[in-house]
Amino acid sequence: MLEIKGLSAEIEGVQVLRKVDFALAEGATVALIGRNGAGKTSLLRAIMGFMKVTAGAIAFDGRPLLEVKPHERPRLGIGYAPEDRRLFSTFTIEENIRLPAEVMKLGAPEIARRLDGIYAVLPELADLRHRPAAGLSGGQGKMAALARALMIGNRVILLDEPFQGLAPVLANRYAAALRTLRDSHPEIALLITESNPSLLRNFAERAYAIERGEVTEVEGGLAASSLAAAGMR
Ligand SMILES: Nc1ncnc2c1ncn2[C@@H]1O[C@H](COP(=O)(O)OP(=O)(O)O)[C@@H](O)[C@H]1O
Ligand SMILES: [Mg+2]
Repeated sequence: MLEIKGLSAEIEGVQVLRKVDFALAEGATVALIGRNGAGKTSLLRAIMGFMKVTAGAIAFDGRPLLEVKPHERPRLGIGYAPEDRRLFSTFTIEENIRLPAEVMKLGAPEIARRLDGIYAVLPELADLRHRPAAGLSGGQGKMAALARALMIGNRVILLDEPFQGLAPVLANRYAAALRTLRDSHPEIALLITESNPSLLRNFAERAYAIERGEVTEVEGGLAASSLAAAGMR
């Protein structure tokens, strides 16, 4: 569904993605593992159209995605939760979640339908919906960012280091929410970046490692033996 071939990108003349080949199949959960500065955020931003791509191609359902303007890409069903979750603190949680749908000018019934689906996956947000986002804990903010990505991402969701900074009990709760999402919406593909591969073990069926902008597939996924072979533990 999402196929990346030979993708290179740069920031201010510095190459941050180097001939990246990457594939995400319909409904798959794929991990992208790499240290700080490896290029994880850059790859997600290139998919969203926020990076200067210097070579290569991205196909979405066979269609050349680089020809789609960045602000048109969410309309294809691509949701993105950036690592800095960027909630508007004076808006309520629900206003934050609705925002991308309103930007896309989805009709009120469709927005209501999507919200219902989101609260079914993330019931704790339903209880908080009318609170200002400013009062959210870190864990709740991650849930709200996931919800906002779900509002748009009915085909693919890109999650940038969602576990970063979460205490273990909240990380477990977040992982449980992702499992619920996968069970209730098996058609949605998930691309999750992390610096710590153990967080996504037993979760992602495929894994890629990224280092200095170069991506390699980890044979055997995130099993302990393949991580060792890939020099990741
Ligand atoms: N705004 C920026 N200006 C200059 N260099 C940047 C900027 N953002 C990221 N970089 C560089 O791009 C490379 C990849 O960064 P990034 O994609 O953010 O990595 P990751 O998400 O894996 O930590 C790093 O070498 C980083 O220093
Ligand atoms: Mg990053």
